[in-house]
Amino acid sequence: TTYSLLILPGDGIGPEVMAEVRKVIGWFEQNRGLSFDVSEDLVGGAAYDKHGVPLSDATMARAQSVDAVLLGAVGGPKYDNLDFSVKPERGLLRLRKEMDLFANLRPAQCFDALADFSSLKRDVVAGLDILIVRELTSGVYFGEPRGIHADDNNPENEGGRVGINTQRYTSGEIRRVARAAFELARKRGNRVCSMEKANVMESGILWREEVQWVHDNEYPDVELSHMYADNGAMQLVRNPRQFDVIVTDNLFGDLLSDAAAMLTGSLGMLPSASLGAPMANGRPKAMYEPVHGSAPDITGQGKANPIACILSFAMALRYSYDLGAEADRLERAVEKVLADGVRTADLMGPQGGTPVSTSEMGDKIVAALAEV
Ligand code: NAI
Ligand code: MG
Repeated sequence: TTYSLLILPGDGIGPEVMAEVRKVIGWFEQNRGLSFDVSEDLVGGAAYDKHGVPLSDATMARAQSVDAVLLGAVGGPKYDNLDFSVKPERGLLRLRKEMDLFANLRPAQCFDALADFSSLKRDVVAGLDILIVRELTSGVYFGEPRGIHADDNNPENEGGRVGINTQRYTSGEIRRVARAAFELARKRGNRVCSMEKANVMESGILWREEVQWVHDNEYPDVELSHMYADNGAMQLVRNPRQFDVIVTDNLFGDLLSDAAAMLTGSLGMLPSASLGAPMANGRPKAMYEPVHGSAPDITGQGKANPIACILSFAMALRYSYDLGAEADRLERAVEKVLADGVRTADLMGPQGGTPVSTSEMGDKIVAALAEV
């Protein structure tokens, strides 16, 4: 099997962290007999500079045809004053929209060596490994009607206006993200907790019923529980290790995944994935990317932490190529390097020390791959 991968380094530190992923890919090819068909293209400001658009039609077509897309980051001060329609972020949004990436995966994994970076106590987060699956293409961010209107017939309303958004989910939209969550759970701890507000929202009632339906009819082997999202937020900071996979809607997922991110420490450590419908080979359309942005403040200085991007590639190994054992190996290599005390500048604690460069961190991880 040859695994196809489209690399879109983008702007700022994107190309710097992507160079380290290339080393990792090279190691897997040379030492594990894997064959990757890697192509590279432009996105964001880099694409705008060359083509006048943040994502060309040709690049879009390539993204549609590969097993997985790995994106670095887009944006930067040079592009801040561009017209909205050609802003770097539009390249990202176009990829998500046209690939119909409806399931956003945000793992929160706490490596033991970094447990003291968490906003929670070490004994609450050490060994944490949860995955939040956020519905990404529907819900209140997209529902109609929406808008800000004059509140004409309501003299009691000081200011006289009303702002409207609509939380709207179809059963089909809920079922497909639920399926994604159950599939992912089978590759992990086999447990799903679904979060909504069925106590106060009809869309929440439908959410609960449809997730339960998918479970009963298609995934009875996976353990399913339901939780109100407000309690979920509380449980996430009280005892996050009780969870394996959390599935929730766009709005609650936005909040819960940012909260969960802070359980684990640095932005330079956080990977993500966005998945769509299954392709002909049965695997989902997929784009992987670090959570961080293009970090213009450290671009070109060799300071960027490549781990978020490397862990995003580990997710591609697991979810797009079905190479779970190799994904585990890569995560163990990252864990070992951190346990050995290797740190980029963003991971230096108050006790200080000498940070390694982006490239040195990549080299250490590659060296560790042979030892874990
Ligand atoms: P940012 O994530 O780029 O940086 C925030 C802070 O974290 C900075 O101090 C940066 O140096 C640090 N940081 C981020 N990634 C790091 C890494 N791998 N290693 C070490 N330190 C790291 O967010 P910011 O500053 O708000 O945005 C900068 C640019 O990135 C903007 O143009 C923004 O629009 C864009 N952006 C792009 C995203 C994407 O491509 N998905 C996501 C967020 C922002
Ligand atoms: Mg957010």
